[in-house]
Amino acid sequence: MKRVLRGAAVLLALSAVLAGCTGKSGTSAAPKIGVAMPTKSLQRWNQDGENMRRQLEAAGYRVDLQYGGENDIPTQVGQIENMIVGGVKVIVIAAIGGGSLTEVLKEAKAKNIPVISYDRLIMNSDAVSYYATFDNFKVGVMQGQFLVDKLGLATAAGPFNIELVTGAPDDNNVNFFFGGAMSVLQPYIDSGKLVVKSGQTTIAQCATPNWSTEDAQKRFENLIQTFNYRPGGTRLDAVLCSNDSTSIGVTNALVAAGWTRDNFPITTGQDCDTTSVKNMMAGTQIMSVFKDTRTLAEKVVGMVDSLVKGAQPEINDRQTYNNGTGIIPSYLCDPVVVTLDNYQAMLFDSGYYRAADFQ
Ligand code: BGC
Repeated sequence: MKRVLRGAAVLLALSAVLAGCTGKSGTSAAPKIGVAMPTKSLQRWNQDGENMRRQLEAAGYRVDLQYGGENDIPTQVGQIENMIVGGVKVIVIAAIGGGSLTEVLKEAKAKNIPVISYDRLIMNSDAVSYYATFDNFKVGVMQGQFLVDKLGLATAAGPFNIELVTGAPDDNNVNFFFGGAMSVLQPYIDSGKLVVKSGQTTIAQCATPNWSTEDAQKRFENLIQTFNYRPGGTRLDAVLCSNDSTSIGVTNALVAAGWTRDNFPITTGQDCDTTSVKNMMAGTQIMSVFKDTRTLAEKVVGMVDSLVKGAQPEINDRQTYNNGTGIIPSYLCDPVVVTLDNYQAMLFDSGYYRAADFQ
């Protein structure tokens, strides 16, 4: 029932949107779309922002694209306020803090401006109309399953030493990434086949504020120091890292501790950041999960276009993402495991990166 009401509210909002929509491409009458990205300091958000701008402009929209400084919440709130005042027809937001936009989005709702949550779910706001992301739980399952397969946990006697690293605790995705990975790993931890010597197995204990590479590195340097995770010292078999920015910090710490491509612990990641792809090629990161930001942008531009035209956006999930005000209708894109075996096809042949930039 709640969902129907939400749908009705969105449609009502759309008639308002439609009323202001006359012209196309480049003309000042072209509807303006607000796109709020969290930071320029991480590669993927630059790509997301540029993909969104390019594809929205190609579809005939004007774009107000903003980045929230160094993951600065007040900056992002101010940018969204400006978008609302500036007359955008739809706002697309990759939130810095999942629960920090409740107040400003009340203004969007009052003005009937639909809000699309991009990649990360905006929590505790009934102004969020739709959510588009990758299947975040599946990302975690892929990372966990990769470790299980590579260590051969089904048959090997073990025990194997593992440590766990995840991301920003105020990013709702972390619950899904970590939850997905632990759904696969926890039984092996319980049975003793996997050993977490630090005992740090909760999100709070494994968190990395703002997904910072430096913070992940510092935490890992401490773990190396405390448990003597060095070649010739305590064997470290695997590290679960929820994404590349944290994996890069862990790689830095492991390389400094003497681990090389010949004995490198099995590490995971996510995003296929260029540094991580280079690390994979050097044997100092073992996998990443590829989320093609072009696909996500394409889906979101499709949603925006449907909203502006008063049509129903494409949705493929109506049960997973509750933001505290109800289920948010979502579109989940498919993540893909990338290793040395398939990176050329996935990243270079697909045109995502230029192979020449990795030589
Ligand atoms: C995104 C990841 C990204 C992380 C850090 C998450 O919300 O889903 O792709 O690595 O934020 O920016």
